Amino acid sequence: MGPLTEEEVLACVEAAGRAPSIYNTQPWLFLPEGDRIEVHADPSRRLPAVDPQARALHISLGAAVLNLCFAVAATGRRPSLELLPSPRDGRHVATVTADGPYTMDDGERELYEAIRERRTSRRPFLDTPIPPEAKRRLEEAALLQGGKLEFVEAPERELLLSLARTADERKWDDAAYRAELRNWTTDDPYREDGVPVEAAPWSGDDTVPVRDFMPDLERPEPSGPEFEAEPVIAVLSIIGGDAPADWLRAGQALERVLLEATRRGLATGLFTQPLEQSDLRAILADPTGRTHVQAILRFGYEAEPTPLTTRRPAAEVIAREKPLPLRPTRLG
Ligand SMILES: Cc1cc2nc3c(=O)[nH]c(=O)nc-3n(C[C@H](O)[C@H](O)[C@H](O)COP(=O)(O)O)c2cc1C
Repeated sequence: MGPLTEEEVLACVEAAGRAPSIYNTQPWLFLPEGDRIEVHADPSRRLPAVDPQARALHISLGAAVLNLCFAVAATGRRPSLELLPSPRDGRHVATVTADGPYTMDDGERELYEAIRERRTSRRPFLDTPIPPEAKRRLEEAALLQGGKLEFVEAPERELLLSLARTADERKWDDAAYRAELRNWTTDDPYREDGVPVEAAPWSGDDTVPVRDFMPDLERPEPSGPEFEAEPVIAVLSIIGGDAPADWLRAGQALERVLLEATRRGLATGLFTQPLEQSDLRAILADPTGRTHVQAILRFGYEAEPTPLTTRRPAAEVIAREKPLPLRPTRLG
């Protein structure tokens, strides 16, 4: 159907760039070429202290890839996706080609529109229950991308929350972790990446251990419970292995679940701390080895929506020439 127009490329790159990413690092570069857009990792945006294997980096890239596919479909062309197309270049994580004509169905269009509305909330949610039908739709969204989303009840929920608390406490003593947090948390209203301080409140109530993004502030005395009494927590696993291609698929599944939640008026939060430490990950491992946990999510309703976070402009994330290849092992 011919090359994507400049306007279509911009719309695609903007939608891809709205994806969630660890610490809002936006670790991506896009290379448009005719009817294709290549997605490359930006290794200068890696987080060696919190993400030494580059797992979260790949999950973030996978989320951007899903958005890109929806955005290509919104131009009226079928997105055809190839993950890790070059075995020698671990940095080139995907190519999305705009193939023959395609018409999105209503559900797909609503997910595409939810890209601009999705955001991460770290606030207390209301105690309003989530209808079982909505939970089923979230599970289906994960399955469509090769993922398995499982809502957990007590006592497994308590185990997850306590693992997150343990992970946080340990990391708090790690100077490199705190330095990285400091670099990526910002009160500069003009900054276009990083987590803005208003998006990361920390109340002192760790009944729901959202990540503390304030390494320099004295922690307030623990307050009374502010978070919902029975947080709705789900674990997202990927059926398959535990390597970059699986992490990219995890990112796609994660983003599809988040978009499905958004279009249903649900707020979403993530806490991946227990997955960043191998001994804590091992506690959550599937003994059959058939699935691998890649994200822990929290869902609920908010009294008012958390503000959206900023993104770098398209001109900054569009590469003019092919980024230098990187051996796959060099990202982790
Ligand atoms: C792989 C991955 C891991 C994340 N882990 C956490 C986390 O542990 N705690 C948290 O509060 N947010 C987490 N986030 C959310 C990001 O901080 C968030 O996506 C980013 O700051 C951009 O904000 P937005 O989602 O509101 O657009 C994670 C996101 C990704 C993609």
